[in-house]
Amino acid sequence: MNNRYGKLLNNVLTLAIVCNQWGDTGKGKFVDLFAEWADIIARGTGGANAGHTIRINGKEYIFHLVPSGILWDSDGKINIIGSGVAFDPKIAIEELAILKKEGKSYDKLQISLNAHLVLPQHLVMDRVKESDSDTGKIGTTGRGIGPLYVDHYDRIGLVVNDLLNKDIFAKKLKRNLAGKIKQLHLSDPNIVEKVMRHEHLENGIFYHPNEVFDVDAIIERYLKYGKELREMISDTEEFMRTSVNKNQKILLEGAQGLLLSVDYGTYPYVTSSDCSVSGLAKGVGISEKNIDLTLGIVKAFYMTRVGEGAFPTEIGGEESAEWCGRKDIAEEVEKIKFQQGTVNSKDEFSQGVHIRMAGNEYGATTGRPRRVGWLDLPLLRYAIKHNGPDVILTKLDVLSECETIKICLTHRYEGPNYSIGFKTFNTGSASWIATPNDEILRHCFPIYQTFPGWERDIRGVTDFSCLPKKFKNILDYIAKKAGVNVKILSVGPDRNETIFMD
Ligand code: IMP
Repeated sequence: MNNRYGKLLNNVLTLAIVCNQWGDTGKGKFVDLFAEWADIIARGTGGANAGHTIRINGKEYIFHLVPSGILWDSDGKINIIGSGVAFDPKIAIEELAILKKEGKSYDKLQISLNAHLVLPQHLVMDRVKESDSDTGKIGTTGRGIGPLYVDHYDRIGLVVNDLLNKDIFAKKLKRNLAGKIKQLHLSDPNIVEKVMRHEHLENGIFYHPNEVFDVDAIIERYLKYGKELREMISDTEEFMRTSVNKNQKILLEGAQGLLLSVDYGTYPYVTSSDCSVSGLAKGVGISEKNIDLTLGIVKAFYMTRVGEGAFPTEIGGEESAEWCGRKDIAEEVEKIKFQQGTVNSKDEFSQGVHIRMAGNEYGATTGRPRRVGWLDLPLLRYAIKHNGPDVILTKLDVLSECETIKICLTHRYEGPNYSIGFKTFNTGSASWIATPNDEILRHCFPIYQTFPGWERDIRGVTDFSCLPKKFKNILDYIAKKAGVNVKILSVGPDRNETIFMD
């Protein structure tokens, strides 16, 4: 079976698939592809903020929480939701219901009893905070991720196993809610009520006009979820450790991307979990040393970002960032409004919109348009310091119609002098490796190398030797200048639109 993957998986028992950018690089396709090889597919980070689109024979599946390997359940593969995942039982149950309706099994799915639970209060805290301009908007997905991890570290979180023990659940829930109710009483009651009545919070069933939360309604609903999930809840960390010792083939599925890691990303414009390969290993309960191969996905030759935060190579700059941040902009709006123009528009804003449309860059979780920019090598050089140099380049077919491709080689810092430890970042200085500090990054300007485009559809190409010379030139440049080992090229969304390099 390894032949399908060339020599890539020789001597590999544990493989991790992570992303080296801000997420949305097409991990789902590769998790699905490697799931055929694996015995176990495990997620260890993120939560319902992540969205994986998997296309099989032209049909699209979108999952937020259930691992992308779930479609292999009927082939005997075990899917794991590890303890590092922010687990929202409501969303998990909705996804399982879709699978059931589609006739797909999930008999072998296991959910960690130690995964922290996303509860209604987390969604409320997330959304009320985001609506308050004084607290600094991050542009979150509104799935309660930040507040959940706050509770985890504040030692007041509830875990999946609590769903199975009524009295403990009630006691912990009341303790968890006490501080939040006090805090929410200081917020605008109209905003709180509006958030509580949102469909993601089941149209207000947990709302209490005086106490904010109807505790009994939460207990009743979540214990019901516990009953539905009971058979799947287990000690997955122990299972993973044992599986490593038994030489099982394990596929670790990352969520989001290195640049969104709370520990290593472009803080504070990050998610609240560690999306690096080390965070992923920890989130499933194994050591990073157990990973034999890490493949970091890089969208090329453009990249995307959702939400706030610096993006030096953004096509269309601030105008584009503002546009993508507007609540009323969605795919349908752009398609109608931008019938004129192409991916070669001279106007950068219009060019950005057309690249977004060509790549179908709209959030799987939120539907928001993703900000688009050229591939940024200083950020890539930084990311591979954490995730290692082996990469998969994805979405390479998207820019086939571009007359010119720009690759950012270095950054030029144009902000005020800024101290980093004993060093000073001087105005006008160049950086080869990005510093993921927003105070620096937002003053960085890209220095580009420009290449002629290959201007030919490459979607049907399955053999490296058949790729256009102009395309290969850009590839060589990236490999050399970023110090990456390109292991796989993805030239289309389907499984067979994949080129293994050795
Ligand atoms: P949160 O994870 O919902 O708290 O959002 C924090 C930041 O991470 C926001 O900028 C989000 O847009 C971004 N983010 C979270 N999940 C994803 C993802 O799956 N893809 C891209 N961006 C994400």
